Amino acid sequence: MEPILEVDDLRVYYKSIWGDYKSVDGVSVKAYRNEVLSIAGESGCGKSTLVEGILRLVKPPGYIPTGKVIFEGIDILRVPEEELRRIRWSKLAYVPQGAMNSLNPVIKVEEQMVDAIIDHSGMDKEKAKEVALAMLKEVGLPVEVANMYPHQLSGGMKQRVIIATAIALKPNLVIADEPTTALDVVVQRGILQLLRMLKENYHMTVIMVSHDMAAHAQIADRIAIMYAGKIVEVGLINQVFKEPLHPYTKGLISAIPAIGKKYVKGIPGLAPSPLNWPSGCRFHPRCQHATELCVKVEPSIREVERERFVACHLYG
Ligand SMILES: Nc1ncnc2c1ncn2[C@@H]1O[C@H](COP(=O)(O)OP(=O)(O)O)[C@@H](O)[C@H]1O
Ligand SMILES: [Mg+2]
Repeated sequence: MEPILEVDDLRVYYKSIWGDYKSVDGVSVKAYRNEVLSIAGESGCGKSTLVEGILRLVKPPGYIPTGKVIFEGIDILRVPEEELRRIRWSKLAYVPQGAMNSLNPVIKVEEQMVDAIIDHSGMDKEKAKEVALAMLKEVGLPVEVANMYPHQLSGGMKQRVIIATAIALKPNLVIADEPTTALDVVVQRGILQLLRMLKENYHMTVIMVSHDMAAHAQIADRIAIMYAGKIVEVGLINQVFKEPLHPYTKGLISAIPAIGKKYVKGIPGLAPSPLNWPSGCRFHPRCQHATELCVKVEPSIREVERERFVACHLYG
């Protein structure tokens, strides 16, 4: 399998008067061509910051002290800004967290899409309009939506408009941050199926970021679990759900509500602060298996079987 994206030891810190918030603190991960890679983990673990780092969209007081991001052979953190601008959208699309609320309420959908397409492609207006209408159809919206204002659309429809715009130039990689959060379950499923379709029909690679494990279960090929600014487990989705290795992953899976479950088991304790990560394994204060070793030594992420990675002293 050929990677389309390789992230190596990426760190994203936010400066503050109390010190640096080490929100992303040494992430290495690969996305392969034509897969859906899920990035999971509780709110605050650094998922959005990771994505912003990958896309070089970190704004001050945030900065990237170290790391490498290679996308289709391009060194994203080092290419000139104008080249990066060309790559974003045309080759690499981003659906930010909460993007559907960023549509301008007083401008019709078509106009917003056409402006965005022209802005990033240099297409003429006629062509951009043609593309916009075709994309609306592609994402399962009636063409009438083009003439509507965002406030006339449901959340799910707005999210489809956002995705249609993001993929209008047929990028090879789409990164969607919490694309289903704040949508109801039935609408969520539709959006997840749409993201899956991008892979199946357009052979795009999709990175889906979400705190919602149930959403990942519906579309992912592989899943990476993030905790406290690091990736603690990676594997094929079926493997990870069937036999989670890291105690944190186990906790996340048993916390998924399901029919027939009388109660769901939460993970005890609070997520730690990026200002002061726990020593050793960052999960040790919440882990029932923690030993002296876990308090003192940080476990590195290791391949325990083919394509199965875990950072935990229980395995090694
Ligand atoms: N602009 C910022 N300035 C300071 N801290 C930030 C900023 N953005 C995010 N953080 C901190 O980084 C951590 C990770 O946040 P985030 O990446 O949004 O997590 P997630 O997407 O997993 O919920 C949080 O502790 C958050 O408070
Ligand atoms: Mg987030």
